[in-house]
Amino acid sequence: MDHFLYRGGVLHAEDVPIPEIAASVGTPFYVYSTATLARHYRLFQEALAGLPHLICFAVKANGNLAVLKTLGDLGAGMDVVSAGEYLRARAAGVPGSRIVFSGVGKTRGELRLALAGGIRQFNVESEPELRALSEIAASMGLRAPIALRVNPDVDAKTHEKIATGKSENKFGIPIARARAVYAEAAALPGIDVVGVDVHIGSQLTELDPFRQAFGKVAELTRALRADGHVIRRLDLGGGLGIPYTRSNEAPPLPLDYGQVIRETVGALGCEIEIEPGRFIAGNAGLLVASVIWLKEGEGRRFLIIDAAMNDLARPSMYGAHHDIVPVLEPAAGVEHATCDVVGPVCETGDTFARARALPAMGEGELLAFRSAGAYGAVMASEYNARPLVPEVLVRGDHFAVIRARPSYDEMLGRDTIPAWL
Ligand code: LLP
Repeated sequence: MDHFLYRGGVLHAEDVPIPEIAASVGTPFYVYSTATLARHYRLFQEALAGLPHLICFAVKANGNLAVLKTLGDLGAGMDVVSAGEYLRARAAGVPGSRIVFSGVGKTRGELRLALAGGIRQFNVESEPELRALSEIAASMGLRAPIALRVNPDVDAKTHEKIATGKSENKFGIPIARARAVYAEAAALPGIDVVGVDVHIGSQLTELDPFRQAFGKVAELTRALRADGHVIRRLDLGGGLGIPYTRSNEAPPLPLDYGQVIRETVGALGCEIEIEPGRFIAGNAGLLVASVIWLKEGEGRRFLIIDAAMNDLARPSMYGAHHDIVPVLEPAAGVEHATCDVVGPVCETGDTFARARALPAMGEGELLAFRSAGAYGAVMASEYNARPLVPEVLVRGDHFAVIRARPSYDEMLGRDTIPAWL
């Protein structure tokens, strides 16, 4: 459920009519609903009720400071994968004690920055990273709290570009080698072993891969305890999928996912960490655009809009489907015609949808992409010298611009022409 509904024939974000935001901000823009973000966060809290836990929002899904602060104020922790994300979480008021640092290629500089700033745990993904972290922490007179991210060799049954838990993927330490690496970790002067970490992929629409992976983590935890390690936390990653169309089968709900966690690792007495991104932010955001022209091609109609692949990369990058709806609700029974929804960027890949059934729309009319709150604005670029798409946050009947569209002067001002030119 989200808070983007038609009221009186006009699409609203909570209590704010979308055309009102469009008139003030211009299109394209992203708009997020505070109530939806909070609702999705609470669904995870309910799912894990009774188990000690921390829900660490995956900042990569939506790193806007206002979004992070909204979740941080509810008590969320953060999962970060770069110094930039770490600093974003901190700037949003989240303490280091609620931040986990994941990622396969953390640099020495990033490790040092997080150690100095305060960190709950590093999810370490390789032996060289482990040794470097120990060295850096020891040189600072610290011991770095770590979990090893293990690769359980489980098929997440999702898009190949976002599956991470198979042995051929670059992520984690092969689970078969984990005991040996934990033994090494325990002997390092700058390392404090606190847990085990796993993440097998994103947009998972079935629970079985989670069950397999968490089962393997439970087995490993028992073995590590038998080896003498104190394993007090399990970070089970993110990945719970969301519905991208209103017609497709609904992916599992957090409550069912929580049940899998209880059944697989619940008896171990560990604090549970999860790292959801998409489930919290995905359906809490829209991308709103306007029609530039409707163009009649040879046997095809092209709806050319002012958003493009640089603003929302998912369709061109993963062939992803996003529902597209007119902001003004079509009258019941109105005829729909198929068209290709495309942006202005000079690539055929700049196509959001082919042969999509939409009511007749013309110049200046508004439309909205649903499910765009996660991996939308964060993946945007200024390709074709298009200004970075702005972001808006709604709460109840008011809205605020939480990232302004840069002016052309600002964009030009970022480049420098050397003196010799
Ligand atoms: N934790 C780790 C270590 C991750 O790598 C990810 C996502 C998450 C948590 C959050 O996963 P989520 O709950 O959002 O599924 N750009 C792609 C998605 C990339 C996901 C990468 N890792 C897309 O637009 O589909």
